[in-house]
Amino acid sequence: MRVSFVAMRDGTPEDYDLIDANDRESLAELPNRILAHLRLIAEDDGAYQIDRLQHALQTATRAERDGAGDEWVVAALIHDIGDLLAPCTHGAYAAEILAPFVSEEVCWVVRHHPLFQRYYFANLSKEQRSVRERYREHEYYQRTIEFCENWDQCSFDPEYDSFPLEHFEPALRRIFAREPFANRD
Ligand SMILES: [Fe+2]
Ligand SMILES: [Fe+2]
Repeated sequence: MRVSFVAMRDGTPEDYDLIDANDRESLAELPNRILAHLRLIAEDDGAYQIDRLQHALQTATRAERDGAGDEWVVAALIHDIGDLLAPCTHGAYAAEILAPFVSEEVCWVVRHHPLFQRYYFANLSKEQRSVRERYREHEYYQRTIEFCENWDQCSFDPEYDSFPLEHFEPALRRIFAREPFANRD
């Protein structure tokens, strides 16, 4: 089935019902698309000792072993999913994927993790590394530091025993099966 219009202004209510139905089907595919893209980022491993998918799995595994809930584990799994398409804004990219389905806190942490991670860049000046201090008074400041310190910055270890991607599929599907924006007023 196709809509009748070639310009949106000429669409009928039936056309837009059709588009809505199609959008719902497409939304149901989101977990599969995310899984496929996670496999894709493994193809570009940069200069690290492990590829980006292994880093994602290691970060998510550490979150799970620390007893974090689904939202944090899935956030850890996809926090760098924008590395290839949004290399300069990859935190915001992942946060926008998560935003309809998780808490504001988890989104904020994922959005800001690249800025907080600068703390570890040994080739930057002291001022550049401490740029996260501009958020010192923010309610999610400490949580973002912990995300970076405990799960992200340490997850480049080829010896670490990470869970496979399949292990995280149920949590991923639970999060993205949620009603979008049910977390908003
Ligand atoms: Fe990152
Ligand atoms: Fe990362």
